Amino acid sequence: MNSKRPNSIIIKGTGKYVPERIVTNDDLSKIVDTSDEWIFGRSGIKRRRIAADGETTSDMALKASKAAIESAGLTPHDIDLVIVTTVNPDMLFPSTACILQAKLGIRNNIPCFDLEAACSGFVYGMEVATSMMASGRYKNALVVSSEKMSSMLDWKDRSTCVLFGDGSGAVVLAASGEENAGILGNVLGADGSDTAMLCMPAGGSAMPPSERTVREGLHYLKMDGREVFKHAVRIMQEKALEVLDLCGVSAEDVALLIPHQANTRIIETVAKRLKIPSEKVYVNIENYGNTSSASIPIALDEVVRGGKVRKGDLVLLVAFGAGLTWGATLVRF
Ligand SMILES: CC(C)(COP(=O)(O)OP(=O)(O)OC[C@H]1O[C@@H](n2cnc3c(N)ncnc32)[C@H](O)[C@@H]1OP(=O)(O)O)[C@@H](O)C(=O)NCCC(=O)NCCS
Repeated sequence: MNSKRPNSIIIKGTGKYVPERIVTNDDLSKIVDTSDEWIFGRSGIKRRRIAADGETTSDMALKASKAAIESAGLTPHDIDLVIVTTVNPDMLFPSTACILQAKLGIRNNIPCFDLEAACSGFVYGMEVATSMMASGRYKNALVVSSEKMSSMLDWKDRSTCVLFGDGSGAVVLAASGEENAGILGNVLGADGSDTAMLCMPAGGSAMPPSERTVREGLHYLKMDGREVFKHAVRIMQEKALEVLDLCGVSAEDVALLIPHQANTRIIETVAKRLKIPSEKVYVNIENYGNTSSASIPIALDEVVRGGKVRKGDLVLLVAFGAGLTWGATLVRF
């Protein structure tokens, strides 16, 4: 294998897939005590996509991946590394990445693995892929974030079920000879001191599924929304500034901010603190809700296909999520 170290790692292709079924806030107000006014006012969400019965995380990943590979001008056989980020794997093992590999029909001598960093998964995945590719051993990596959040929601809990949605976003990262292009910098971090703030308590080895865990609804997502909100605003601002500093640029140089889509109030506060005007902030939460790690690559695909980024533009990605985890990436297109 040719191991020449690349000058940069660029985003060569993007793709997304969201399920067909649209569930509006009014639809949800028929199953829980809520309203469009409350949901939109508190979160910015109007509707979300919900996977069809039997539609899996890997099915959604497959569609986003195919779109990304095609837009990169490649075939699945050109891919030499697959990273799937998800909190809703098809099953605990084997990895959804291996299931996806088989569905894509690609080579069996390449590494395929899942990475779990909750909503920060995509930014973590980009850093892991970039670091592996820096050795020169991998030329075209597929990083795909796919989330079937509907599978872990308690549809009787109005404080959580209204906030999330299903979907998948993917990128093909390619080793490039270009200088000062692609992924310029990445900062990651985590704080596991309060894991209960956002978690799914049962289903793992700490609390294997049992009649009791099902009866008590412990296999559903649990969240202290107010606490998460406070941390999110502070962390996203700090990490955005840290990665800009690392790359020697200022917030004014950023052409587009793509934040994790968890809540418009979080996004607006962070953008304001960074002094990035709203027209430079991409927000699509209205249509999809919080799709966890898929939210940034879905947005990325929309801005690329919508012609909202030009060659040379600096795009700042910032995420936070359960763990807590966080990360920020600066990309030059
Ligand atoms: C969840 C969130 C939207 C709630 O907004 P909030 O302004 O903090 O609202 P609160 O939690 O204080 O709830 C206010 C009231 O609305 C009620 N409420 C909660 N969900 C509701 C719903 N869907 N419809 C109507 N009322 C609701 C609560 O019961 C509470 O009532 P009370 O005051 O009588 O107790 C907000 O905290 C948030 O977005 N947090 C971050 C979540 C997040 O980003 N998670 C993902 C991380 S990756």
